[in-house]
Amino acid sequence: MIANPIIRRVGVVGTGVIGASWAAYFLARGLEVSATDPAPGARERLAQAIALHWPTLVKSGLAEGASQDKLTFHESLEAALEGVQFVQESGPERIDLKRALFTRIDAALAENVLIASSSSGLLMSDVQTACRYPQRVVLGHPFNPPHLIPLVEVIGGARTSPDAIQRAMDFYRAIGKRPINPRKEIKGHIANRLQAALWREAFHLVSIGAASMSDIDAAIAYGPGLRWAVMGPFANLHLSGGEGGMEHLLEHLGGPIESWWADLGTPALTPSLKQQVIDGIGAELAGRGADQIAAQRDAMILDMLRLKAASTSIP
Ligand SMILES: NC(=O)c1ccc[n+]([C@@H]2O[C@H](COP(=O)([O-])OP(=O)(O)OC[C@H]3O[C@@H](n4cnc5c(N)ncnc54)[C@H](O)[C@@H]3O)[C@@H](O)[C@H]2O)c1
Repeated sequence: MIANPIIRRVGVVGTGVIGASWAAYFLARGLEVSATDPAPGARERLAQAIALHWPTLVKSGLAEGASQDKLTFHESLEAALEGVQFVQESGPERIDLKRALFTRIDAALAENVLIASSSSGLLMSDVQTACRYPQRVVLGHPFNPPHLIPLVEVIGGARTSPDAIQRAMDFYRAIGKRPINPRKEIKGHIANRLQAALWREAFHLVSIGAASMSDIDAAIAYGPGLRWAVMGPFANLHLSGGEGGMEHLLEHLGGPIESWWADLGTPALTPSLKQQVIDGIGAELAGRGADQIAAQRDAMILDMLRLKAASTSIP
């Protein structure tokens, strides 16, 4: 068991889309952020991204002492990691680069500092191989954008210690995240696999002409999506069983559900299906700008998060 240092200063390695959003979130939780990214202009882009995310973070409530002034940016990775008690890595999604980056991060840090990777698809078992202290390497996979969406998937590699996983879970929970700890390293982790299952069928339905894209989107956004934002698929299924709950539901509808599974599609992303979907989204969103839609979506998510935080019965 390694002592958990009090985390006041976080190293943010890689400040692209995800790293900048993480940096903004850590600052909003009152932490110091020490960031690094070798891309030309990265320092300025990071400051701009944080300024852009800040109003959303103000609306969701800043922690005491939160300030954009607690950000420092360093050209050198080693300089950025001096004095940090936790590292969130969000560099490029390539195993050779990730492994090399982790080897350098590991070499620069004392043994008790956790290193979490935002990787969407790489396995920590493959990333931690050349680290001196592989036991402190964990996946800390956020859902985009990390400054707004609470989910973080924490998964260990073959050489990660249970203690490191626990400490990462504790840290994310303490700063207001909703960490989960899937037991297996699995391609795409959990949340992206669940999304992929839905997208697969949505693309299949378009490919066979079963419905317009706007009807498919409405079928989720004005149907099950409303319930899924409140509770996950299993908790919802249990409620669908009425007083008999999950057991009754599976007795009653288990057979039909299995027959739907057997009928689901496995579409290929052919050039013609891609074009159909590109044209379809243009028609569906005609007249509305993506920025305007995203701003309204994010404002609604903020309201929903407030309602969820105030709920007493929702799991
Ligand atoms: N974009 C998403 O929706 C999303 C969601 C969850 C997780 N992720 C994961 O987050 C990570 C970052 O993805 P992104 O979308 O922010 O990519 P991005 O391309 O926007 O950012 C990657 C950044 O890493 C920097 N970089 C390159 N070499 C570096 C080095 N040696 N040290 C430090 N930084 C370096 C690049 O300059 C760039 O700014 C990936 O592992 C990705 O899988 C992405």
